[in-house]
Amino acid sequence: MCGIVGYVGNKNAQDFLISGLKRLEYRGYDSAGIVTLDKDGNATLLRAKGKIINLEEKLAKNKREDKIGIGHTRWATHGEPSETNAHPHQAGDIYLVHNGIIENYKELKATLTEHEFKSETDTEVLAALVESFYQGGAHPLINAVVQALKLVKGTYGIAVVSTKAPDEIVVARAGSPLVIGVGHDETLIASDASALVGHTKQAIYLNDGEVALIHKDSIEIKTLNAEPVSAKVEMIETNLAAIQKGGYEHFLLKEIMEQPESLKETLRGRVNLETGTVRLGGPGLSEEKLRKIKHLVIVGCGTAYHAGLLAGYYIEQFTPEITIETVIASEYRYRSAYIPKDSVALIVSQSGETADTLACLREIKKQGVPTIGIVNAIGSTIAREVDGGTYVHVGPEISVASTKAFTSQMIAMVMFGLTIAQAKGVKPGVLYPYIKEIANLPEMIRKTLEQVHDDVKRVAEAHKKYEHAIYLGRDTAYPAAMEGALKLKEISYVDANAYAFGELKHGPLALIDDRFLEFALVPKGPLFDKAISNVQEVLARGGHVIVVTNTDFDLPVEDVIRIPGEIEHFAPMLMNLVSQLFAYYMTVAKGYNVDQPRNLAKSVTVE
Ligand code: G6P
Repeated sequence: MCGIVGYVGNKNAQDFLISGLKRLEYRGYDSAGIVTLDKDGNATLLRAKGKIINLEEKLAKNKREDKIGIGHTRWATHGEPSETNAHPHQAGDIYLVHNGIIENYKELKATLTEHEFKSETDTEVLAALVESFYQGGAHPLINAVVQALKLVKGTYGIAVVSTKAPDEIVVARAGSPLVIGVGHDETLIASDASALVGHTKQAIYLNDGEVALIHKDSIEIKTLNAEPVSAKVEMIETNLAAIQKGGYEHFLLKEIMEQPESLKETLRGRVNLETGTVRLGGPGLSEEKLRKIKHLVIVGCGTAYHAGLLAGYYIEQFTPEITIETVIASEYRYRSAYIPKDSVALIVSQSGETADTLACLREIKKQGVPTIGIVNAIGSTIAREVDGGTYVHVGPEISVASTKAFTSQMIAMVMFGLTIAQAKGVKPGVLYPYIKEIANLPEMIRKTLEQVHDDVKRVAEAHKKYEHAIYLGRDTAYPAAMEGALKLKEISYVDANAYAFGELKHGPLALIDDRFLEFALVPKGPLFDKAISNVQEVLARGGHVIVVTNTDFDLPVEDVIRIPGEIEHFAPMLMNLVSQLFAYYMTVAKGYNVDQPRNLAKSVTVE
């Protein structure tokens, strides 16, 4: 969603702001803008609707040597995407960029009668509020910002500059991330550390309720109540290669193909085939606490939710006396759900910043239930607020549609399930087949991707005319089908939905006609024959069926994509690789934007 960047130092601020905004493009946005100040405080404000390239066109005619500035990519919440609504917003001497939502902006606006509002945004209200306390530079900028923020209800990450103080930036955070990059004679700001990579390795992650006064050679942090904060400088571990396409045409394809390596990172040091055990240090639960767990609540949104659903199917297979409920965060946060004693909640999020997931985490914590994060982004809000956690370590995921994170989130949760089962004394013979497959998965993912790649590309191109798709599966193949349908929907804009095979007769069978294609995940196993008869039912009604399987069958389907047969339990996970590639090639064939699908954002930081 919205992105923030800022710079103060000795280099050209416009250059950093534009390159930083480009790094944040993947989060999704509809307009962008920057403001820079020269040493006398003269401001150059450039804003444009649409892609950053439009902003660059304006920049080409307005090049400056300014050494301080702030920038923003906007994802519309209040007011349509337009140049006027794009940030930075100005009020008097103040320029301000903002991520998040000011909930009481209407009440505040009513009191700001001196300011002539130009945009429909809540952000301009905040700019005007800061200006009302700043009074043309009569007070220090940081004091004006603090006074304004004390009146604000809602969420924000902000960066503010003033034409009266062209050597300082004030930033603050409540619910929307802000990272301060510490450089040599320069300080950088971003809402996401990826914008800082290549500039500095040292970062300070601001906490909620903190505000910072930033100069090129100093950073002073305090709380809104004026208590000083001693900042913890952390290392940014991401390298440049991890946020570049590395020879692939799209980030999505790169991230799909990276999965053998990214899963290896998730497993590193956690799976021991010799002892047949799994060990996770992060959750921090004692053997006794693990043994007592009777109930798991798994919370996530989108792909993270699907990873939780699939993991839940596995965990209940090998863990006795456990009830698992996987829930959508945006629903769960408002339910009156009772969480019984001896429960643990798994909070699943690639970005670690999803607003609904974070809200659930806070609700669940209030009930005294231990929370475990299954998170990718290191230092993210969810990672910091959970009681314990397991980072999935897949590296930056740039494409909006999540792929490598799904695979690793799912396996990380299964590993957590295995640690519960171990503590509960489940016989090694029951767990070993799962552990062995997990250890082999990186290699099996590599083999699958190689084996299916050309077939999937051909099949996707052959079916590009379809606008409707039904994904089908039973048991563990059902959540995998849900994730496959989501991928196709997100990036190819195909109206794709998933159904459990057994539900066909209860409605979806009525849909089968020439407008629909059916994508059936049919692994071998106890339910294979049942799934095959369901496929037959679809064929009998003129369905256009593509079957993904790891075994043989004899039915006149439109296409078959075969994955390697060695993996049994986790075959649906390998089938999901086929769904990922299918969505990718379908999108390329249809000519849509693969990495930044319309209307979607990578990290949904507002409700
Ligand atoms: C957005 C993204 C999805 C992602 C979901 C949850 O909708 O586009 O790819 O699955 O948010 O994100 P999280 O960062 O919490 O895993």
